[in-house]
Amino acid sequence: MSRLGGCRAVITGAASGIGEATTRLFVGEGVAVVMADLDDDRGKRIVDELGEQARFVHTDVSQEQDVEAAVAAAVDTFGGLDCLFNKAGHPGSVGGIEDVDTALFDRTLAMPLRGVFRGIRAAARVMRPQGHGSIINTSSWPGWRRTSPWPGPQADNRADTAHTESRN
Ligand SMILES: NC(=O)c1ccc[n+]([C@@H]2O[C@H](COP(=O)([O-])OP(=O)(O)OC[C@H]3O[C@@H](n4cnc5c(N)ncnc54)[C@H](O)[C@@H]3O)[C@@H](O)[C@H]2O)c1
Repeated sequence: MSRLGGCRAVITGAASGIGEATTRLFVGEGVAVVMADLDDDRGKRIVDELGEQARFVHTDVSQEQDVEAAVAAAVDTFGGLDCLFNKAGHPGSVGGIEDVDTALFDRTLAMPLRGVFRGIRAAARVMRPQGHGSIINTSSWPGWRRTSPWPGPQADNRADTAHTESRN
């Protein structure tokens, strides 16, 4: 028996990669999923394939109102929000410190990290009053290894971990 059947989720970055794979897995388990992503073409194509259990909401996680609208869509369309998976992202400023471009370093921190913050906040505003909910943030190896060749992703992943571990 599915442990997730009947749940309602928002997945950011759901139009590709890990977010897409999670969306397909969740829908297969009976979860209703709001796919929150920038990529309208891929997002809509996946929704056409998955049917009523999935809705695409154009979302740029760097935009506060977009993230809030994706969470609101889960509540309005599916009647609530039980899970948020923050997975929108890009590889960022990979490369040695001598070569990292400042603007790309800033984007490496700004989009994923602040997107995760916006997601947690929007979801908490629904989940705290209802008394339950799961928020999933993933970090990668630059977040837990002592050293990595990529200063931007390491800073981003460490910050995501710290943010996830905060208890407020
Ligand atoms: N795939 C891996 O093995 C791996 C390993 C470690 C870390 N990561 C990190 O995980 C994240 C996702 O990886 P992936 O392989 O699924 O990537 P991906 O490129 O396949 O998917 C990322 C998705 O995020 C979306 N997106 C990008 N910017 C967005 C924004 N501002 N708002 C909303 N959606 C946005 C893209 O449209 C895309 O659909 C990336 O940050 C990546 O660096 C991936």
